This record gives sequence, C-alpha cells and structure tokens, in this order.
Amino acid sequence: MTTRNEPLRAAVLGATGTVGQRFVTLLAGHPWFELTALAASERSAGKLYRDAATWIQTRPIDDAVAAMPVHTIDEVMDGGELDIVFSALDASVARDVEPRFARRCLVVTNASAHRMDADVPLLVPEVNPDHLSLLSPPEDGRALPTGIVANPNCSTIGLVLALKPLADAFGFERISVVTLQAVSGAGLPGISSYQILDNVIPWISSEEEKLEIETGKILGQATGGTIEPAEVAVSAQCNRVPVVDGHTLCVSVDLKGEPAMEDVREAWRTFRAEPQERGLPSAPAQPTVYLGDDEPPQARVHRDLGQGMTTSIGRLRECPILGYRFVALSHNTLRGAAGGALLAAELAVARCGRRAA
Ligand SMILES: NC(=O)c1ccc[n+]([C@@H]2O[C@H](COP(=O)([O-])OP(=O)(O)OC[C@H]3O[C@@H](n4cnc5c(N)ncnc54)[C@H](OP(=O)(O)O)[C@@H]3O)[C@@H](O)[C@H]2O)c1
Repeated sequence: MTTRNEPLRAAVLGATGTVGQRFVTLLAGHPWFELTALAASERSAGKLYRDAATWIQTRPIDDAVAAMPVHTIDEVMDGGELDIVFSALDASVARDVEPRFARRCLVVTNASAHRMDADVPLLVPEVNPDHLSLLSPPEDGRALPTGIVANPNCSTIGLVLALKPLADAFGFERISVVTLQAVSGAGLPGISSYQILDNVIPWISSEEEKLEIETGKILGQATGGTIEPAEVAVSAQCNRVPVVDGHTLCVSVDLKGEPAMEDVREAWRTFRAEPQERGLPSAPAQPTVYLGDDEPPQARVHRDLGQGMTTSIGRLRECPILGYRFVALSHNTLRGAAGGALLAAELAVARCGRRAA
C-alpha cells in the first residue's frame, strides 16, 4: 500500500502506440504518478521500450523509460502492486483486459469498449466531474477507488468542452457537427500516406455513432448511481484529413433564449471548472479560449494551446438553420487521449483527498 505522500504506481497498457507514447511522455516527471510498468502486444514484449516503440513524438524518450522492459498484459497483471492503470489498448483487447485490472485498481482508459457501461463515468473533468460519483469510495486503505473511468472519443471531447459553457449559460437541444480529423487518430501504423495525401476521406469507422451517443451521456445528470443522459440530438459527419494532430469541428447549435453574440463569446472566455479550481497538474488555465470572430482555430497553429489541453474556438456567426455556428479545435492525442486521461486520474486522486508530494 502506498502511503499518503508517495507517488502512485502507474502502468501503461498499449505503451508503444500513438496514445501510449503520449502517456509515457506526460508521466515522465509527473508530480503524483510514477511509471512502474509498461505493456504492449507479444510483438513488443521482452524488448526494451526504446527498441519496441516506433517513436513518433517530437520530445525524445525519457532515458529511464527507454531502458524499461515491455511486458505482456498478463505479466503486468501478475506483477507488482499498482495504484492506477492507464489504458491505450484497442477496444477489442481492452474489453476483457480492463475489467480484470479494475477489480484491483483504478483503470483510466481511452478505449471505447466500456464507455457506455452504466457504472463507468465517461469523464471530461471540466464538464462532468460529478460523474466520478459512479465509483465506490476506496476500500482497504487504498489510495484510489477501483473500477473504470473512460475518456470519451477524441472528437467528442472537443465538442463537449466547447458546448459545456453554452449548456450552463443557455441550454440547447440540437447539434450538427462536421469533423476534420487528424491522421494520428488512426493510431500506428495508421492510414497509408498514399491514401491520405492529396485527399479527404469522408468516413471514419464508428466515429459518427460515438459522437452522437457519447455527448448525451457526458452532458447528463448523475443521480442515484446512474447517469440520466441529456436530451440532445447530435448529427455528426466525420472526415479524415491530412493533418498530423488536432481535430477541427464545425458546429451548429440551437441555443435557447436567443442570446446575444457577445454573451456566447463571454461564456467561452470565462469558463473555468473544478480542475482549474483545484489547480490540478494537467489542467490548463483556460479549458476554452475564444480566438475571435475573424480568427479561425487552425490545427498547426492552435493545437498546442494550454499544452494541448485547451479547446480553441473561433468564427462565431449566425446559422440560418440552428441559430449559431462556430469552429472548434482540440488536440486529439493530448486533450483527446493521454492528457485528458491523466487529468481525469488527477481529479480522482484529488477527490479522494489524496495529493502525493
Ligand atoms: N490516436 C488517437 O488520437 C486516439 C484518441 C482517443 C482514443 N484513442 C483510443 O486509444 C486506444 C489506442 O489508440 P492508438 O491510436 O494509440 O493505437 P495504436 O497506435 O494502434 O497502439 C495500440 C497499442 O496497443 C498495443 N496492442 C495491440 N494489440 C495488443 C494485444 N493483443 N495485447 C497487448 N497490447 C496490444 C500495441 O502494441 P504493439 O506496438 O506491440 O503492437 C500498441 O501499444 C484505442 O482504443 C483508440 O481508439 C486513440
């Protein structure tokens, strides 16, 4: 058992992949978590991390992590004590693996396998922190609860961050969203250059369904141990575009009460939530930033705002069908995956009164 001020022992499953590499990078030097185990497929197991991972980050691999061995999932399961597991597994693998870990520690996952399970919070820490109440309080002197916390789909995260200030200030019932999604969203080795260069692919498997179903759960109310989904109709159309990182969302929304444009801008500018109030290590100062009516968010220019955790918004204007429309941008492997999962874990730690040194 870890004592109150010791770092929490963390494993990364799927550590060699696109999201796993982000976890490894963000966990190096994290003030609360210590990376103690790495797992990937049989292809990688038995190698040192530096030899197993096809490194695609701009920051070099941390020396200590580069020299860590990569294990199979079963070896990590049977290995040393863990306080938390970060999962960057494909959904097909995560479906069976994550509940096994969740019986003995907290699992924070990017996989879609358990997102819609009734007892799993689908968490965006600034949007629905109260959904953590689905987890039972820690038992047996543990630092954290057991169970699964799921990160939503990477496009859904950007969408609900842009919508939450509008939900609080005005309310809405209908959303139309068209996405322009980066190639890193397809993982490694991903889509071939021959397919995506000089091209737009107007289809991403299951993506539209995820945006349409997850939004209601995230914006829903936690009552009596379940989530009552928000009644919001979402129409999504998803496109893969030749951008490395950063998903762009063109959104129309039917805001209630016909608010003035300046009130809508102000809702994004002033939005702060529990992660900012608690000063969590991965929380950006501003979860949403309004760039300007004439300044559209652009993937290469704005994706790293707030260390990739800020959703940038611009081009608010009237929509002849739904009332208002705007453009939002969110970093898919930081806010939309590893960074968002880390922030969710930090919120769970803070809510347990557990703040490691
Ligand atoms: N990429 C994004 O922007 C993004 C955003 C949000 C959520 N997600 C979700 O996050 C998860 C990971 O995505 P990704 O893009 O990082 O995928 P990826 O690049 O394909 O990486 C997959 C990882 O899973 C490991 N793996 C595959 N089969 C395995 C098995 N049978 N046992 C153990 N490990 C196995 C791989 O190990 P090897 O290297 O050994 O094959 C690799 O480490 C997916 O569920 C995805 O939907 C991705």
